[in-house]
Amino acid sequence: MFEELMGLWTPVVASEHVRDEPHALVVAGERVVLFRGRAGVVALVDRCPHRSVQLSLGKVVDGCLQCPFHGWRFGAAGECVHVPLNPDARRELLSARALPCRERGGLIWIACGEAATGEPHVPEALERAGARVSFFVEEWRCHWTRAMENMLDSPHLPYVHRATIGRAMARRMKPDSRMEQTLTETDVGFELSFRLDGAPSASKLLWLRPNGMQLHILDGAPGARFLRIHVWCVPSRQDHTRMLLATTQDFGLLNPLLGATDFYNRKILREDRAVVESSPSRVPLSASPSAGGAGGAGGAGGGDPTEKSVATDAPTLFFRKWYREAMGSVTRG
Ligand code: FES
Ligand SMILES: [Fe+2]
Repeated sequence: MFEELMGLWTPVVASEHVRDEPHALVVAGERVVLFRGRAGVVALVDRCPHRSVQLSLGKVVDGCLQCPFHGWRFGAAGECVHVPLNPDARRELLSARALPCRERGGLIWIACGEAATGEPHVPEALERAGARVSFFVEEWRCHWTRAMENMLDSPHLPYVHRATIGRAMARRMKPDSRMEQTLTETDVGFELSFRLDGAPSASKLLWLRPNGMQLHILDGAPGARFLRIHVWCVPSRQDHTRMLLATTQDFGLLNPLLGATDFYNRKILREDRAVVESSPSRVPLSASPSAGGAGGAGGAGGGDPTEKSVATDAPTLFFRKWYREAMGSVTRG
């Protein structure tokens, strides 16, 4: 159950998409149903404890989820509150499986497994006063680790995005150009910036463990504009990833062309998708040496013998090292 994100929090959908009806989705291979209970959004494993049909095919009645088959009803903690025709049923033995769930920053977050601890890391930009957050979601046909690595990878910019965000870099690059990256570990992942031939990049990128990326494009210093892009790569069914994009900005909110930012971001995402979907399944779990000075991260986390790494792969190797350890603990556990 939830092998890929066991015990971890992830956003799964924008709040605006969960309305009065049950909302079904697959997270890390597990069917989940969301619904609005009396005190907020509820997440249950989408399987009735009676005969295992999908609860999401039922309906919400009095803030509870009613199974479509025999009408059992379940509350916010998965507790069974009604068993038609069986007034003597021991309902305390008939619970559905509830998952920790939060609604924050315009997103629904769930913890993958009942035993998860702590709270989700919600980027402050999503809850920034006076900012507008827009959401976009699309499904990619690839393993989430491939999509995540793409989000942490800067050297692809002048190739995959040569007509968009990588155009300036493509123009500046010379055959002997050098990219130097600075990776600083944080409590929730890492922070990354780079220099191209000594000149610093304008933006800063954060990895939000396990599956999120935040790009600081305009930092909103006093008197300046604020623009941040977030992407979460949410594993869904086998080798499919739900790409959840959230753009936050605090300028041009009355401009009728505001939607142009969303359009542009989707275009960039499509450029990535065209390449990343050609990857084989998940990133290799075995380590191998790297060529070209990927440093400690490379030695500790590199791919398999058929995937070579170089210095500019340090961020993705850092991710691989974390992923390998996370998968190791799932397997051991
Ligand atoms: S299968 Fe759900 S109530 Fe019977
Ligand atoms: Fe990209």
